[in-house]
Amino acid sequence: MAILTINADQPQHTINRNLYGQFAEHLGRCIYEGLYVGENSQIPNRNGMRTDVVEALKQMKIPVLRWPGGCFADTYHWKDGIGPKESRKKMINVHWGGMVEDNSFGTHEFFELCRQLGCEPYINGNVGSGTVQEMQEWIEYMTFDGVSPMAKLREENGRKEPWKVKYFGVGNENWGCGGFMRPQYYADLYRRFSTYCLNYGDNKLYKIACGPNRGDYEWTRVLMREAAPFMDGLTLHYYSYNKKNRSATQFGEAEWAEMLKDAAGIEEEIVRHTAIMDEYDPQNRIGLLVDEWGAWHDEEPGTVRGFLYQRNTMRDAVLAGLSLNIFNRHSRRVQMANIAQLVNVLQAPILTDGAKMVRTPTYYVIEMYAVHQDAKLLDAAVQTPDYTFGEITLPKVSVSSSLAEDGAVNLTLCNLSPNESESVTCELRGKAVQEAAGRVLTAHAMNAGNDFEAGETVKPMSLPVTLNEDVLSFTLPAKSVAVVTVR
Ligand code: AHR
Repeated sequence: MAILTINADQPQHTINRNLYGQFAEHLGRCIYEGLYVGENSQIPNRNGMRTDVVEALKQMKIPVLRWPGGCFADTYHWKDGIGPKESRKKMINVHWGGMVEDNSFGTHEFFELCRQLGCEPYINGNVGSGTVQEMQEWIEYMTFDGVSPMAKLREENGRKEPWKVKYFGVGNENWGCGGFMRPQYYADLYRRFSTYCLNYGDNKLYKIACGPNRGDYEWTRVLMREAAPFMDGLTLHYYSYNKKNRSATQFGEAEWAEMLKDAAGIEEEIVRHTAIMDEYDPQNRIGLLVDEWGAWHDEEPGTVRGFLYQRNTMRDAVLAGLSLNIFNRHSRRVQMANIAQLVNVLQAPILTDGAKMVRTPTYYVIEMYAVHQDAKLLDAAVQTPDYTFGEITLPKVSVSSSLAEDGAVNLTLCNLSPNESESVTCELRGKAVQEAAGRVLTAHAMNAGNDFEAGETVKPMSLPVTLNEDVLSFTLPAKSVAVVTVR
């Protein structure tokens, strides 16, 4: 039995809605086919964006979308992606399969996608192979409302009004694909580039410095020491892996347990990076942005190498729920998180195959957890049995909870055991409870997922919740992710 106690009358800070952010890179079939098919496609689209995918994504309530990379960002020259499509430059996507990138999806198309999705854009600029001038001009092109060469160019390309851009990343993984730099060197470059990331009119940028890869505390320390006053956010990338058998679908309990243990490790990472940030930024002004996270399995056999196409199962769903609970609980410092990636790449909520589309188990987790966006974090005391497999031991039940603006208390929970259900009681202190309802996502097997042939067999069902005064009781099935809403 797991026992939870929640002080519903002691709300804490707001959980930034951007913890439920997404990431779309020019990689494999994420942008092309997954999101954008062009106006002349047989696949139904609005201004080139697939209608089925956009409609599904709207229900997931994406707050912010990061683009154009990833590693691609530090090879991207934005001027190649504007103007008449027939004259846009074709280039090689050097990191991802060496395919031809025809630049038919560029700045204007990205803003159109964000408009359709109703989300904020997060643009990642190029430090690795770009110039300060190129970055400055991109920001001017997007946001300047006045007489200037870039504002004129934008108007010539059919857009008079500037767009609003808040989130702007100055480089990506500059310790790796973005230039293999050392932290001191990147910190200096960050200071230089970010100086010319200007605020035009009332557009105010939230400037984001490239942060560490998992485990690199030195990078965080140097960046905070040398460049903290110049940044609003610092990123962290954390992917979860299996060491030996890395198949997305053909795995047993050993790989289930190993993968969840690796994912749970992000909590220690966040705590340690936060401690360093607290030293240099005690006011908690700078956000820690986990702008790439998720499960990284082997590519699906028979697919193009470098496209990072993987199937998605109940294991990925539990991994997502576990990670999002951790982000919620550490949302004082963690201000954004972007699962990688939106469609057809890594731990994607949506997969497509030509005109077919399917929502993955991960999609449903993000959709169920959307209740936490902009809600106030509630502290939950959790007594849970362990889930043990071999030498791996993890808390069996993972929880986070929040208070929504309309007074509802929402709990999201995962049962990490693939074999055993768990009864949960939850005492809600300081709230007169009138009704409670739940939804749960589970499946008959650890590796069950949704596919194009059989359709969506893994999707949320109703979870019976009983109420006894202010105590709720329910049972989490084995390998499940749930949301319980109390009014
Ligand atoms: O998400 C795939 C890649 O992973 C990104 O391009 C890069 O930033 C990271 O290494």
